[in-house]
Formats: sequence, C-alpha cells, structure tokens
Amino acid sequence: MRMPLLQIESLAAGYGKSDVLDDISVALFPGSLAYVLGAGGAGKTTLLMTIAGLVRPKRGAIRLDGEDIRRKRPSELLARGIAYVPRNRLLFSSLSVRDNLLAGVWRETDRPRIEADVARLTQRFPFLATCGGQSATRLTNGERQLLAIARALMTRPRLLLLDDPFDALAPLEAERVARLGAELAAEGAAVVIAQRNATPAAWPGEQAYLLDGGRLCRSEPCIGRSWPGLAASP
Ligand SMILES: Nc1ncnc2c1ncn2[C@@H]1O[C@H](COP(=O)(O)OP(=O)(O)OP(=O)(O)O)[C@@H](O)[C@H]1O
Ligand SMILES: [Mg+2]
Repeated sequence: MRMPLLQIESLAAGYGKSDVLDDISVALFPGSLAYVLGAGGAGKTTLLMTIAGLVRPKRGAIRLDGEDIRRKRPSELLARGIAYVPRNRLLFSSLSVRDNLLAGVWRETDRPRIEADVARLTQRFPFLATCGGQSATRLTNGERQLLAIARALMTRPRLLLLDDPFDALAPLEAERVARLGAELAAEGAAVVIAQRNATPAAWPGEQAYLLDGGRLCRSEPCIGRSWPGLAASP
C-alpha cells in the first residue's frame, strides 16, 4: 500500500487563544500535486505554516513518514524535507539572482553538492544563468516566483509548500508554475499549491481541497478539468 508522506488528522491550529483551523484531515503522497483553495482568510497560509512548523498545532496529529512532527522546529522540518515558499517570496532586492538562490543554503563544506544543485537548477531555469548577476528586482514576477521556488529546491525538498504562488502572475506565468509543480511531483515530491480565489480549471494535479472558515469543506480529484461550481466561489 502507498504510504502517505504527510498525514494530518483532526488538526486544529491558530494564533493565541483563537483557533483558525479546525478538524483538518489530509494525506499527502509522494509524487503528487495538490491544491488548497479558498477565499482570503480561509486558513490556507495557516495550514501551510503549521505543516512547516511555523505555527504550533493545538490538537490533532501531523505525521511525516509516520512520525509525529508536531513539536519539531522549522529548521528540523526543513532538514527532513519540508520546504515552505511564502507568498511574498522573500527575495532580497540588494542581492543578485544567484545570491538569492544561495541565501540560507550556502555552506563552504557543502560546496560540491551546492554547485551541482545550482547547475541542475540552471538547466531547469535558464534565466538563472542569463540573469544570475543581476539584481533580483529586475526579474519579472514570474521569474521571481520561479527563483523563490528554485531556492526552496536547493534544499531538495520532499514536500514543497507554495503559498499563493500565482499572485501577480500573468496567466502564462501561472501556468508555468503549475506545470513546474506537476514536474516536481512527477520526480517524486509531494507539492502543495495554496491559492486564493482560484479555480483549478485545466491545471495539472491530483487533488484539490477547498478551505472555508478554517475547515476543509470539499475535496475532489483535480484531473486537469474544471471543478464545477468552484469558479463561482469568492
Ligand atoms: N499572525 C496572526 N495572528 C492572528 N491571526 C492571524 C494571523 N495570521 C492570520 N490570522 C488570521 O487567521 C485567519 C486565516 O488567515 P490565513 O492567512 O491563514 O488565511 P489565508 O487563507 O491564507 O488568506 P489569504 O488568501 O488572504 O492569504 C484569518 O482570520 C486571519 O486574520
Ligand atoms: Mg494566505
């Protein structure tokens, strides 16, 4: 039987005394692309941040490879393969594209591995070579999103969490990001795309979940066709 990479059961999480997420149960499998959709404030970011260890769960279980990870630190979860790409992409405007790619991952002792990863990513994203020396501010929004994802890929994630990756992207750029998610899934990762006000019409992927008021109110296979009714949701 296929084992989930990440299993969430009856999860509740929030900030201070208030719960944002309630009774969330989801299994994420290696080699899959899933979407978490929902209106602003539905709890998508809170869910991704809870998985990444940035928000502490209050009740329920989160297991990675069957092991309880609720009390693990974000750095430990990153080392275990969970990478979170925040909505603002966290690029440094004073750094070049190449230095943004290396920010947070450079270690002299890892030089050969890091250089091999940079070469691998440069093949995948040719703009990393052509724009490598430029400031990241000169990239298009689509390239910035790809750079933020490429930086996450430097950690060789098994679970990649993308928060609102289509924000401010032209439709073709968004399609490129969705296709990248599918490619990474085909290579074995579990990829989650959380996106506000979106419908997965014609997007690649396995499953789409709809969050509403912190609860999973709908889950349907997403097989590259439109999801009737969702386009009309806020
Ligand atoms: N740091 C915080 N402290 C307190 N409440 C917060 C915090 N961050 C988010 N919230 C609240 O949690 C709820 C869910 O927010 P969250 O950011 O997870 O939603 P979202 O689905 O990602 O929204 P968006 O589409 O706007 O990104 C909202 O009511 C929000 O006001
Ligand atoms: Mg959000």
